[in-house]
Amino acid sequence: MSEEEALAASRARIDDVRNRIDRLDNNALDLIFREARSHNWWTDRDVSDDQLREIWDVMKYGTTSANTLPARILFIRSKEAKEKLAPCLNPANVDKTMLAPVTALIATDLNYFDNFEKLYPPRPEMKERHASDAAFAAKFGLQQGTLQGAYFIIAARALGLDCGAMGGFDAAKADAAFLASTSWKSNFLCNIGYADLSGIKGPRLYRYAFDEVCKVI
Ligand SMILES: Cc1cc2nc3c(=O)[nH]c(=O)nc-3n(C[C@H](O)[C@H](O)[C@H](O)COP(=O)(O)O)c2cc1C
Repeated sequence: MSEEEALAASRARIDDVRNRIDRLDNNALDLIFREARSHNWWTDRDVSDDQLREIWDVMKYGTTSANTLPARILFIRSKEAKEKLAPCLNPANVDKTMLAPVTALIATDLNYFDNFEKLYPPRPEMKERHASDAAFAAKFGLQQGTLQGAYFIIAARALGLDCGAMGGFDAAKADAAFLASTSWKSNFLCNIGYADLSGIKGPRLYRYAFDEVCKVI
């Protein structure tokens, strides 16, 4: 396929989607956002490896600056791995994490720029800026990796799974337990599965109205 044909095909794909759907309906918005809650208790319904793969295959399309994709995910499922995770958690997060079928450790690869040429062929020379300035790369990686963490939650919910994100853990301990001798660093954890609604202890918390936090200038 010539470059011109490839470009035309890319535009045709976008057109095709727009002809099929112009926005998400209320059910989809409820599932992903408006009725999606942070879940704390889990049924014994399992989550398959295929579902974990499907989360990645959806979330990977979430946009990141220069297509750097710095997030890495360690899916913690086995009893042994869960037991290794337990001492890293704040006490309030232990029981629910042990009960969840899978806990995703969303990490950031500090060497995310290693594949820059493959991921961002339009500007391969930009790699140097990332590779030569560790402080810049750490900030950039965390920013873009955190965006991907949000895409993870949105993708999981879009696929019908429930999520319970957690920042309440000792990241250094988790790094030592799971990521030693890698360039990955823990960002946050997210339990996934099918929620037992007895874990919902109250109504949805307040959310700002548009006029409280947004300005149009
Ligand atoms: C990155 C992140 C970290 C969080 N950390 C924790 C945590 O350590 N423990 C916990 O019980 N909830 C945690 N939460 C859940 C939030 O407290 C919860 O989303 C918030 O109270 C709003 O509730 P809702 O999602 O049900 O509307 C976290 C959420 C996010 C997105």
